[in-house]
Amino acid sequence: MLILKTISDARAWRDSVGEEQKTIGFVPTMGALHPGHISLIRKANRENDLVACSIFVNPIQFNNREDLEKYPRTLDADIRHLEEVACDVLFAPTASEMYPGQDIINDKYNFGHLDKVLEGKFRPGHFNGVAVVVRKLFEIIQPHRAYFGMKDYQQLKIVEELVKYHKMPVEIIACPTLREKDGLAMSSRNVRLTHHERSIAPVIHRVLLEIKEKIGHLTPKGAQIWGANQLNKYAEIQVEYLQIVGADDLLPIETWDEKKSVVVLVAAYLGKVRLIDNMIIK
Ligand code: PAJ
Repeated sequence: MLILKTISDARAWRDSVGEEQKTIGFVPTMGALHPGHISLIRKANRENDLVACSIFVNPIQFNNREDLEKYPRTLDADIRHLEEVACDVLFAPTASEMYPGQDIINDKYNFGHLDKVLEGKFRPGHFNGVAVVVRKLFEIIQPHRAYFGMKDYQQLKIVEELVKYHKMPVEIIACPTLREKDGLAMSSRNVRLTHHERSIAPVIHRVLLEIKEKIGHLTPKGAQIWGANQLNKYAEIQVEYLQIVGADDLLPIETWDEKKSVVVLVAAYLGKVRLIDNMIIK
């Protein structure tokens, strides 16, 4: 695997691929790779001539200093995992390489309603930071296809919007959420759960499954309240939001009859660790 640390090396690699006319599948990550990330790499590998992965813990998308500092960094193990699945290129720049000046960090995106709700409400500036880095990575790697997990559902919608608005020549591929056997969505943050918290964590997925069963029995609003109450019964859990919204526009739904696909999204603290999950329920 080719490991590139600077933007100029990455561009030189990209230029050489351009001459060969090969397709590139790209998987941006922040590292601490787990099987969820690896499933994206495998899919990209199947669907393209070459696969590039990036590992960059993007400081400007963290709105909590402790979360940034505690974010797991496991580069050596990540490299081994990537080599096992035949990833062709790893782009792993430093923060000063990506952000030498303030200019790009000051870029302001407006995604209308999409970045104001759910995560956007509780993590102000987060999606702007994601948009800045994703756009910059796309400009450097110039992939034909880029792979994003549905685990970060709102992020996926924002990236789709970013690409559409700027007419970027990249196809965004949505990939299913990989879960542990007990249903907990795989996440780099899971390693920060205590043994006790880890044993409680699968309830988040269970409640999402049960909400799906409530369709037709409770109103969307009633199902939201029911779900949040189920989780808040645990002293260790503090729900930030649990919302049932349209799967494309993320707008609240009044009734189940509306002819649109519906997603339930949840963010909750389990002890000090903030977990998110979601499920398309209709
Ligand atoms: P990160 O959290 O490392 O996730 C990288 C990609 O892996 C994202 O597209 C995410 O949705 C996907 N992913 C995470 N857990 C998954 C799971 N359990 N199953 C399937 N896919 C999963 O998301 C980011 O990094 C950053 O915001 C980034 C896009 C790299 C910009 O900095």
